[in-house]
Parts: sequence; structure tokens; C-alpha cells
Amino acid sequence: MSTESSGSIENVLHEGRKFPPSTDFASNANIASEAEYQQMWDRAKDDPAGFWGEMAENLDWFRPYDSVLDGQMPETKWFLGGKINASYNCLDRHLDSWRKNKAAIIWEGEPGDTRVLRYQDLHREVCKFANVLKKLGVETGDRVTLYMPMIPELAIAMLACARIGAPHSIIFGGFSADAVADRNNDAQAKLVVTADGGWRRGKEVPLKAAVDESLERSPSVEKVVVVRRTGQEVDMVPDRDYWWHEMMEGASAECEPEQLDAEHPLFILYTSGSTGKPKGVLHTTGGYLLGTTMTSKWVFDLKDDDTYWCTADIGWVTGHSYIVYGPLSNGATTIMYEGAPNWPDEGRFWQMVEKYQVNIFYTAPTAIRAFVKWGDNWPNQYDLSSLRLLGTVGEPINPEAWMWYHRVIGQEACPIVDTWWQTETGGIMLSPLPGVTATKPGSCTKPLPGVVPDIVTKEGASLGDNEGGLLVMRQPWPSMLRTLYGDHDRFLQVYFSEIEGCYFAGDGARRDEDGYYWIMGRVDDVLNVSGHRLSTMEVESALVSHELVAEAAVVGFPHDLKGEGICCFVTLTSADGPEELKDELKAHVRKQIGAIATPDMIRFTNALPKTRSGKIMRRLLRDIAAGREEVGDTTTLEDFTVLARLREHNE
Ligand code: PRX
Repeated sequence: MSTESSGSIENVLHEGRKFPPSTDFASNANIASEAEYQQMWDRAKDDPAGFWGEMAENLDWFRPYDSVLDGQMPETKWFLGGKINASYNCLDRHLDSWRKNKAAIIWEGEPGDTRVLRYQDLHREVCKFANVLKKLGVETGDRVTLYMPMIPELAIAMLACARIGAPHSIIFGGFSADAVADRNNDAQAKLVVTADGGWRRGKEVPLKAAVDESLERSPSVEKVVVVRRTGQEVDMVPDRDYWWHEMMEGASAECEPEQLDAEHPLFILYTSGSTGKPKGVLHTTGGYLLGTTMTSKWVFDLKDDDTYWCTADIGWVTGHSYIVYGPLSNGATTIMYEGAPNWPDEGRFWQMVEKYQVNIFYTAPTAIRAFVKWGDNWPNQYDLSSLRLLGTVGEPINPEAWMWYHRVIGQEACPIVDTWWQTETGGIMLSPLPGVTATKPGSCTKPLPGVVPDIVTKEGASLGDNEGGLLVMRQPWPSMLRTLYGDHDRFLQVYFSEIEGCYFAGDGARRDEDGYYWIMGRVDDVLNVSGHRLSTMEVESALVSHELVAEAAVVGFPHDLKGEGICCFVTLTSADGPEELKDELKAHVRKQIGAIATPDMIRFTNALPKTRSGKIMRRLLRDIAAGREEVGDTTTLEDFTVLARLREHNE
């Protein structure tokens, strides 16, 4: 998508179907009527402090805040003077009730091993690990990197960090050693928690080995704690590396939660922006926890007897907010699964839905497209009748995939919540309320209470119905990012300089005549590959770090399964390269960033299309990558023959 030519974006999708919630669902829903929603939304818009102050009663505070909201966006502060602890809210407060014996986390490993941690168990493990962290020298404010598989120890480590006020920085296990080193350095992490490895499609994914490599160039890290998961051989460096199980053995199960300022940093999570350097999105304690707690209640309609499963990896924001903090703060039962959806076969998720009698299931469009491809036969083998609510997140869902999800998984009886949000927003922003909103396939529908979006031109003028433009937020919300770690100027520039007085999300969207939002994709140089953000510049810098590459331009193209695929146009330092060099470059990018960044297509070219001022014309490259005959406006192209040559290469 491009905004290069005009302020508004052409919209091509027309979808007329509408699915209202059943009266049965609506009558039991946490938000039960359009009128209730409208009243909440209006109140939050007109009196955000009053609304959020009331909502904040859903959390336990050690000391009440003096004020709900201070300052103007972007420099807003929430709940100043309030003292709070996220791990206390996710654990301790449930121990005074019958929930102490409720399953907090039901975990299943890829090989089929299982663990159930009741709230009491999780509390005990978290307290013990918090004491381990302290023993290893971690203090309130120190940053801790977690580079782990999807095992209970990851949630335990997160909550232990939260307990002592040491912001965690979780790095998805699919990232490379280089990516780990960069993030460690940016956050100046003091300690890393990892595992020997994890299981993925029957294979051991080594993690400790990558940490060892990363530590060669991240000197801030003093200690490493290693969970034994797969049992594979690892090197343990004396006085630096410690086994989790050995440290836990002697640790006390008593650990008072730190009473932290509401604005104390809870975590940093790196995400791709439109430059080569990932951004350390920083979230704070009170506002983030309030956002994730309320949105879990509203959107997932969480009830005490629900079994809730979000299939994301905790390495991404979805896992932070909707596997750990949101559900646990609500005292829910959350499922955590370690491995792949197609191991040992393509029925794994549905077999687990049947086995655990899952009621609420939250996944990504890219996964749904894979399920469609694998065929109805897999879900049809299992009893999915426990399901009552389905959700999606991460990218626009195409109406066909939505309909399949509705028909085959939901058996036409489950509302689907298509939730739009971002690492930066902390929690869900635009989404149906399952008991209220009539859904339209492909639309994330309406803003939640407290969210005041708009669609504007590049100049910031509001657009009318069905006019495509830029998605912005006109009012602050509690779970918004507070800064980019160590780079407040970049924070101001990326999110608040584009449209005066608004948060700029980086997405294009339109609003239809019913006030429903339709997300049209990123308008910056950020790709959305399988629901994960990747900067074209990151891939470009990985490519040019190879000695044979002179220049590279990376663009996305429509991909059946991944949503967007990665296409790289590469000029080499010598004449045309051999075919094998393409594989070598793919491996090189994998090594530099991680498997998610593996290019789908590499094309060698002797020149890239540029403007007279030397800017690469990505728009044209996108057209070529997508195989479109008619390319966009070429009036500023410097050398027309480049285009012809690129097309020739295509054939
Ligand atoms: O482009 C939007 C897309 O994912 C981006 C945010 O990516 P990330 O920070 O990695 O967080 C993903 C999980 C919250 C957005 O800018 N996106 C996310 N959800 C949707 C979506 N696009 C369309 N529909 C959605 N429901």
C-alpha cells in the first residue's frame, strides 16, 4: 500500500455479510447490549479520568493513585502516586479465594508432556524465582532478557521480574544470536534466562548455544539462568551460567512483591519499525495491566469456568497481554502450548481443543489460512462443541478465511472477534464485543471504550465514510507505550510527528457507513509476515552485510499463507551471481535476523529503480514482485530502462 501519491487510499474490498451475536450469547455476556457499550464509550471519551478511575477498581493497589490521567498525549502519565505490582494482581489476590486451587496455566509440551499450575503453584514458583533473580544480583529497575521456548518457566520468569520490578525484555525464540545481542545491548540487560532448547516440529531448537554466541558481544549481561528442557548438551560457563532447577532448589517461596509506581516500567518488547534498528517499546505497570485486564474481560468475555487458549508465542505482544497478564489478572485458566500446530499432525490444535474442552480460542489469520489449506478433515475428526468464542489477531483476515473459521471451527455458533491492536497499544483497541457487535467478515468493527480513533489524510483532516486514509488515535489510553527505550526522540518522531496531536499507528484503514473499521495494511516500510512485523530495512541491511551484495531493496508481495512474502531485489558487487548464491543469501538473512525473515524470493538485478534524488522506488518494485503488469506512476523514475530490465528478469 502506498500513500505516496495522495492523502487518501483507494479501497477495493466490498463485503456485505453481517453476523449478529445470538441472544443466548448476548444475555450472558460481560458487556451485554449496544446501549451499555455506547454508554461506556461515550463516558470514556468525554470523561476519560472518571471512566478509567472507575475501571481501575478492578485492580488491587497498595496505595491509591492521586490522579488518573496527567499531561497531554504523547507525554501522558496514568495513576500517578499509585503503588501497584503486576505479579500481585495476577497471583496473590486470587489466593484469598477458591481460585487458589484453580488452574492458572495448563501447559502442553510439543512431545505431549503436560503440567498444570494452580494459582498457588504459580505463585510459589514465581516467588522462588524472584528470589533467585535477587540472589543473582538483579535489582528493581534492572533489565532481564528472556529467550525461552513456550514452557511454564517463561511465564514464571516474567511474573518474577514483575514481582521485583525488573523490566523483562522477551526475545522470540526464533530470533538469531545476532538479534539477541542487539537487543541485550540496547536494553543493557543484566541477566538472561534461557533454556537448553525447545521442541519445534519434533526437532530440538537450540537456545543456549545462541545465547553463548550473543554474549560474545553483549557485555552488559553478567549471569545466565538455563532451564533444562530438551536435555541436549550445553556449555555451562562457571560463575556465569546457572541451572534453573539447581537455583530453585534452595530458594525461599516467600517474596514480598515490590510496591511499584504505576508508571514503573513493566517490560520492553522490541518490534520492527521502518528503519533497520528494532524499537524497544516500553510499557509501564498500572496502565498496561488495566488495559489488558479490561480488554480480556470485554473482548474474550472471560468467565471463571472458561478454558481459554491463545495460540500466540509469548515472544510476541499477543502472548504477553493475552496469555499471561490479561487472563491471569482476571483469574482465568490460560493454556500454553509449546510447539507447532502440525505436529505430530495437522490435527494437533483441534485435538487439544477437544482434550481440554477449550471455550475461547484466539489465533492468527496466517494460522487459519494454513488450516484451510490442510483441509476440513482435520478439525472434523474432533469434538469442537466446547468452543463458544473465536478470535483473530495480527493482520487483516480475508473474508474467505473468516467464513471458514466461522463455519468449520465455530460451527456457525461462535462469535468471531477480529482484534486490531499493536505492540505499542499494549492491548486490543478495535474489536467486536462478542455479545454486542454484529460482525462483518474482514472488519475489526468498532473501537473499545476508551479508544477514540479516526481516519485522516496526511494533512490530518478527518475523512468521510469509506474513504481510505491513515488510522490515528485522538485520545490517550492507559496501556499505550510510554517511550522507545533509550530513544524518546524516536518515539515522538515515529508516532506523534506525522499527524498533529494524534498517535499515528502506521496503518491505512477506512470506516464504513456503520462506523466499522477496515484495516488496509501498513503504510510504512513494515512488512507483516505471518502476522509478525518485519522492517524492509532490517532485511536490506542483513543482505548488504554479505560481501557479494552491493545494494538491496526489499518489498512485500501477496502470499497465500503468510499474508505477505519477502521479495528481495539485489545488485551484486560482481556481474550476475550463480543460483546457489540465492540460497546462500537466504541463509545469511536467517542467520542475521532469524527464520521469520527468510526471503521467499531473491532477484538479482544490475540496477534498482530510483528517483532523481536517489530514492529507491519501492512502489514499482512492489508491483513487479506481485507480478502486476501495470506499474504505478513512473514520472519521477530516473532511468526507465531499469524497469524494463527488471520485468525481463521476471519472465
Ligand atoms: O498492521 C497491523 C497489524 O499488525 C500490526 C501490529 O503488529 P504487532 O505490533 O506485531 O502486533 C501484532 C499483534 C497485536 C498493526 O499495525 N494488525 C494487527 N491486528 C490486526 C492487524 N491488521 C488487521 N487486522 C487486525 N486484526
